[in-house]
Amino acid sequence: SQGEDILFAALEQNMMAAVLIDEQDRVMFYNRAAEKLWGYRRDDVLGQSVSILIPHDLKAAHPGFIRHHREGGDSRVEGMSRELQLERKDGERIWTRFALSRVVNAGKVCYLALARDAT
Ligand code: HEM
Repeated sequence: SQGEDILFAALEQNMMAAVLIDEQDRVMFYNRAAEKLWGYRRDDVLGQSVSILIPHDLKAAHPGFIRHHREGGDSRVEGMSRELQLERKDGERIWTRFALSRVVNAGKVCYLALARDAT
């Protein structure tokens, strides 16, 4: 529908990097600003685990953070705006500001991360 088209365009062309993960933590949406911020192309990440986008020192712990939240644990990032260090594809580490939202649709729990360079 027209309404969905404009919402898609609004996310795709957003100045914020946008990453949406499905109920199995796989990347189902990854916009142009995310390609710029992380340095990964959408072909590298769509359908893959969100792990690819997590800094190497957090890769082991991060799936547990998500699981904890899915199982009803309290929010550390979700619903807040926080600065986190992002590791780009080329290894460069940059400070970014994250806004993470839990998104429920058709009974499925997804998460949308919006991020931008904080420097
Ligand atoms: C939790 C870091 C990307 C989903 C966390 C926590 C950290 C973190 C440190 C735990 C917070 C704490 O216990 O203090 C990062 C970093 C990222 C990143 C450095 C990339 C540079 C993402 C993305 C998603 C995501 C792209 C999904 C779209 C979650 C979820 C939680 C979480 C669902 C649990 C909710 C919460 O703790 O409030 N992340 N994250 N993260 N992250 Fe990430």
